[in-house]
Amino acid sequence: MRTRMVAGNWKMNKTLQEGVELANQLKNDVKNPNCEVVIGTPFIHLATVAELVKGSAVKVAAENCADKDKGAYTGEVSAAMVASTGAEYCILGHSERRAYYHEDYEILKNKVELALANGLKVIFCIGEVKEERLENKQNEVVKAQLEGSVFHLSAEQWAQITLAYEPVWAIGTGLTATPEQAQEIHAFIRGLVAEKYGKQVADDTTILYGGSCNEKNAAELFACPDIDGGLIGGASLIAEKFEAIIAAR
Ligand code: 13P
Repeated sequence: MRTRMVAGNWKMNKTLQEGVELANQLKNDVKNPNCEVVIGTPFIHLATVAELVKGSAVKVAAENCADKDKGAYTGEVSAAMVASTGAEYCILGHSERRAYYHEDYEILKNKVELALANGLKVIFCIGEVKEERLENKQNEVVKAQLEGSVFHLSAEQWAQITLAYEPVWAIGTGLTATPEQAQEIHAFIRGLVAEKYGKQVADDTTILYGGSCNEKNAAELFACPDIDGGLIGGASLIAEKFEAIIAAR
């Protein structure tokens, strides 16, 4: 049975104090979830939040890590540094990082390897932009993203990977993919994993949906057989909404 998961991605929101307040509320409210619960926070929150939620049902993720091991890279944060905070996960390949910070397949490949080498689990994001969807190219886009950055991993390494399908046109737009659209491409992605690693590994791979997933549409999306949970942006910033999504899983 694969892991079900609801993960938040706070992006560049919340001061440290606001983040601690939200994490504290989640820690107190989320007692026996049906799924793995993860919050992705800015780097500067990680150590404090990881310490705060230690021993609770809430796990912590970084939203990024450097593509270099260590050294003279002013302003960067390495995977080893992330791991040293107590964070268990690292979100990589988010479309905002690909688009605004020019993270290409090769850079992401390095980041994934460093995260895994430092004992972090990776939530790896893939997804097409609107023009690609309009041209019906979504399948080839996600295939290239997987082949470019993660399909070189060993089966052992793959066990530490969670995939998140996030159509870029659905992120922060209120335009959620329909359950049918999401299920169709999730099944396609699972098929690619099966071709690469075999059916058993594919069956055990967690694939999240992200993109305007909220407390109103989560249950319908999560009811799809190949949608194992969600990667939540805006709705993860409000405890009640995020908790309702967790309850829907
Ligand atoms: P929204 O839920 O705000 O659309 O963001 C999704 C996302 O990008 C999560 O990584």
